Amino acid sequence: MATIVVGVTGGVAAFKAPIVVRECQRAGHDVYVAATRASLEFVGRSTWEGITSRPVAVEIAGEGRAEHVELARVADLIIIVPATANTLARLASGFADDMVSLTVLASDAPVVVAPAMHSNMWLAPATQANVATLRGRGVHVIDPASGALGSGDSGIGRLPEPEEIARRALEVLARAEKADSAPILDGRTVVVTAGGTREPIDPVRFLGNKSSGRQGLAIAAAAARSGATVRLIAANIDDSVMTLLPPSVEVTRVGSALDMREATMAQVVGADALVMTAAVADFRPQSAQASKMKKDPARSDAPVLHLVRNPDILFEVGHSNIRPPLVIGFAAETGTDEEILAYGADKAARKGVDFICLNRVGATVGFGDVPNDIRLLDASGRVVGRYTGSKDEVAAGLADQIAAFLDSLER
Ligand code: CTP
Repeated sequence: MATIVVGVTGGVAAFKAPIVVRECQRAGHDVYVAATRASLEFVGRSTWEGITSRPVAVEIAGEGRAEHVELARVADLIIIVPATANTLARLASGFADDMVSLTVLASDAPVVVAPAMHSNMWLAPATQANVATLRGRGVHVIDPASGALGSGDSGIGRLPEPEEIARRALEVLARAEKADSAPILDGRTVVVTAGGTREPIDPVRFLGNKSSGRQGLAIAAAAARSGATVRLIAANIDDSVMTLLPPSVEVTRVGSALDMREATMAQVVGADALVMTAAVADFRPQSAQASKMKKDPARSDAPVLHLVRNPDILFEVGHSNIRPPLVIGFAAETGTDEEILAYGADKAARKGVDFICLNRVGATVGFGDVPNDIRLLDASGRVVGRYTGSKDEVAAGLADQIAAFLDSLER
């Protein structure tokens, strides 16, 4: 049984928070409620006291008294539901002048935040920057859902169903408890490739792709947090994204597919696992020009780029004698369920991998909706797992899978 602090802040969605409390209690946990004054306009003290059979924490004790950090000390998990835009800003800035923000600041327990607000407030650059800051600090932010909003408008910003919030929060708790007992990847070395390669055309131009590298970085971070030695091969990842990495991760920066091949072949030697999330260009210009290509003002035709095939790095590692015991590839596919499963199964069989993470892209998934739905296919193309949620949640699920697979090889 764990101790969970549910922090309630002042939005109309607060009426769903008692269901989150009840779900946590039903899972056998001891729940305390901390509420901001504004939230009491929506759900009053007597409701919380009735549900938890204890006083609700609203007031911060006076100067010189330590009771106000007591909740932070006993918490194994903090869930903030709903979190208003104001709360996100206050948490990101480190405020501590109400019981909710104070408990977060004073605690080292994992924090799950479920924002709910009007679409415009959610999409505002300030809110998105606050969410990015919180995620960068390891806070689990559950993206709001789309639908009817309290204001009568419709759009993104609704609080997801409270049962779903409780389920995801309890998963975070379970992972934290497991990580506390023994780091599941202790003693393992995991190589992760991430980002997108750039194939030079001339000194200033290249053929590239849209990969931000975020999913790969989340996997590298999750593996490092689980105790692994992590070597990251990063292709053209923005510095602002690289700051999400724990400092223990060893980084090799590369540009093109050929650079990535060389780095990967060197880094996988002696590793336990390779996770190949990078978007590697399949083709490159036959020869990069040594100086910037100029257009000839006297001619109206356009130059023709001759492309040649790049090596398939995953295939090469998967069929080599330096193949780590576990090799995982990624496949981003478009099409119907049936089509993408067939593409994934084909890649799993062809590339010599143990698993392919299959991600549907280009579907009608709106901004801010659940960003990932990854199916894990084994070498025979069978679906053996599914991870949904934020990139961090997907990464944590994958770190568990890597640990379980490597452990199973030793049994
Ligand atoms: N990959 C690789 N080297 C390449 C291309 C891809 O190592 N030259 C890896 C990717 O990192 C990914 C997996 O192979 O883990 C699948 O990538 P994808 O581009 O979907 O596969 P392709 O074989 O290029 O298939 P497609 O014809 O769909 O592009």
